[in-house]
Amino acid sequence: MSVEFCGLELAHPVINGSGTFDALAARRAFGEELRAGFPFAAYVSKTITLAPRAGNPPPRLWEAPAGLINSIGLPNKGLDGYLAEDLPALAECGIGAGADPGERAVPLITNVMGASADEISRLLEACDARAEIAAIELNVSCANVETGLDIGADPRQLEQVVRAVRGRTRKPLIVKLTPNTADVAACALAAERGGADAVSLINTLRAMALAPQASEPWLGGGTGGLSGPAIRAVALAQVAAVAARVEIPVIGMGGVQSAAHARELLDVGATLVAVGTESFRDPAIGARIARELARIAPAGS
Ligand SMILES: Cc1cc2nc3c(=O)[nH]c(=O)nc-3n(C[C@H](O)[C@H](O)[C@H](O)COP(=O)(O)O)c2cc1C
Repeated sequence: MSVEFCGLELAHPVINGSGTFDALAARRAFGEELRAGFPFAAYVSKTITLAPRAGNPPPRLWEAPAGLINSIGLPNKGLDGYLAEDLPALAECGIGAGADPGERAVPLITNVMGASADEISRLLEACDARAEIAAIELNVSCANVETGLDIGADPRQLEQVVRAVRGRTRKPLIVKLTPNTADVAACALAAERGGADAVSLINTLRAMALAPQASEPWLGGGTGGLSGPAIRAVALAQVAAVAARVEIPVIGMGGVQSAAHARELLDVGATLVAVGTESFRDPAIGARIARELARIAPAGS
C-alpha cells in the first residue's frame, strides 16, 4: 500500500485531517504505544498562524445529524511557539524527519494560515528552514485582510496569493481548498497555476445551529464548520470534480469512517485520503482503515 506523494514515500495512503488528531495529546494518553503504532502515514498539524490565537468563545461544538459543527476558531500558540515547543515534542513521538537519525520518522506536514501574502510568506519561510517539516499545507479558508474575501473562495485571488508565496519554500506546498465557494474545481486549477504541488479538500462546510428553544446561535463563534458523515457525499463530488480538472495530486477527505469510504475517494482520483472527525470516536481508526484498504481492490480491477 506504500504510495509516493510529492516526493515523500508514505507507508500507506491514509493521513489525518488537520486539527482532528493531536499527536502530543495522544502521546500523553497512549504513551509509547503511539510511537509503535502511529495510525497515519504522515502527520498533519493543526493550523498554525503567525501570532498566537485564543480561538472562539464557547460553546465550540454542536452535534448535528450525522456530523459535527465546530467553531473552535483555530486556537494555536503561534509560529514561534510551534517551532520552539511542538517540533521537538513531536520529534520525541517519532514525528518529523531528522527527529531521530536512524529511525524512520512519520513525515510531518505543517498546516499554516495567513491573512495576506506577506503573512503567508513569513510562515512558509520559517517552515522551510526546519528539516523536521516534510511538506506544508496552506489553509486558504481565511479572510484576506485587504479584500475581506476568503482567500480560497475566489480563483483569481487564490492564484495571485499562491503565485506570490510559492517561491518562499522548496518544500512541497499543498493548498487546502475551501468547499465554501461556487466552483471548487476552478479554485483547484487556480492553485495549480499558482504553483501548488497538491491540493487537499474538503474543509468544513459553513454551518449554523440555534440554541434549543431560542433564536440565538448556539456556537460562541456564531457559525461553524460542518464535518463528519453528513458531508461525505459533498466531499466525493468535490474531490471527483477537482481530480478531473488538475494534474497535481489530490488529498481527499470529508466524512471518511471506513476503508470503503476511503476507497471511493481514491477511486474518483485522490492519491491520499485524510480522516478527520471519525478519529474523535476512535483514535486508531486511521490504522484500521489503512489495513482494510489494502484488502479492497480499486474499482474496475
Ligand atoms: C474540530 C475540528 C478542527 C479542525 N481544525 C482544522 C484546522 O485547524 N485546519 C484545517 O485546515 N482544517 C481543520 N479542520 C477540518 C478537517 O481537517 C477536515 O478538512 C474536515 O473536518 C473534513 O473531514 P472529516 O469530515 O473527516 O472531519 C477541523 C475539523 C474539525 C472537526
